[in-house]
Amino acid sequence: MSNAYLRNTWYVAGWSDELAGGQLARRLLDQPILFFRRADGAVAALADRCPHRFVPLRMGKRHGDVIECAYHGLRFDASGRCVLSPNNEQIPKAARVRSYPVIERHGLLFVWMGDTDRADAALVPDFGFMDDPAFATTHGYIHGKSGYLLMVDNILDLSHTQYLHADTLGCEALARARSEVVEHERSVDVRRTMRNSIQAPLTAASRGFADRPADAYMDTRWYPPSYLQMETCLAEPGTPRSQGKTSFALHLITPETASTNHYFWANARAFATDDESLSRRIQEGFAHAFEFEDKPILEAQQESMDGADFWSLQPVLLASDAPAVRVRRRLDRMIAEEAGPP
Ligand code: FES
Ligand SMILES: [Fe+2]
Repeated sequence: MSNAYLRNTWYVAGWSDELAGGQLARRLLDQPILFFRRADGAVAALADRCPHRFVPLRMGKRHGDVIECAYHGLRFDASGRCVLSPNNEQIPKAARVRSYPVIERHGLLFVWMGDTDRADAALVPDFGFMDDPAFATTHGYIHGKSGYLLMVDNILDLSHTQYLHADTLGCEALARARSEVVEHERSVDVRRTMRNSIQAPLTAASRGFADRPADAYMDTRWYPPSYLQMETCLAEPGTPRSQGKTSFALHLITPETASTNHYFWANARAFATDDESLSRRIQEGFAHAFEFEDKPILEAQQESMDGADFWSLQPVLLASDAPAVRVRRRLDRMIAEEAGPP
């Protein structure tokens, strides 16, 4: 199962700002795709491989919304149709490239990797806080040489933070917190409540709780296939949560291949929104933790598994694995249902 992907779903392909140079070439679910902004502002996505002799279209030349292949000059429009074969009167029917539906929302590019006629905009998760002026946001991207589900496990099992991120995102209260898992039709929620407890250094200091206890709430929501949204709130002990300081973190993971991933993260906070030095500290703290603390561990994990299926290795299951195991099982079921009977 580990090499199968859910196909009829949206995956994050990139941040909108990655298209600033006009185009973005990225491999998703083993497929090379070229994204580019059309003259009307919408984003087009084409298979990044010319159907003639398979040269990547990213090497070609743009003529408005038309791409000219670098090798023999076949031209394709944004729908993938061949509109010019320079030295032939007839354009062969097979001369077309696959195009993918794209939705740009919340500063992100979402691409539909399944049957085009089933693309459903309503299935893009709602990350409205990313567009809300009441929030200050920061974001980043990391390429990882590990399977995307190892990254999903990582975010769902926060008992690792105490070991990997002791200076920033980790603390004992979080490692020990019991998780309540609630399954919904289109998501899985994991809730942790930590009363009167010392919280992680960066989380606490940014909210004025350095070295003093807070009532803390951490609610993680998984949307299929691999979107994780985490709401963190710290309040004065004994006061209502609604008076606390809240932020949302996004961890959006897209498989590049079976053993590599694209990791898009963001943080949106609803407190001290004008504090630019805090924004920088959060940006640097997160980027450092994910790039230099999580990434090497996940890549070592991938290498150590040596291509074997996750379940076939019979991983030891701890109480803290419950959320990740529920999510993996749920996704496995969705993939199996999509594939239909063998
Ligand atoms: S390889 Fe693209 S036109 Fe020949
Ligand atoms: Fe981590």
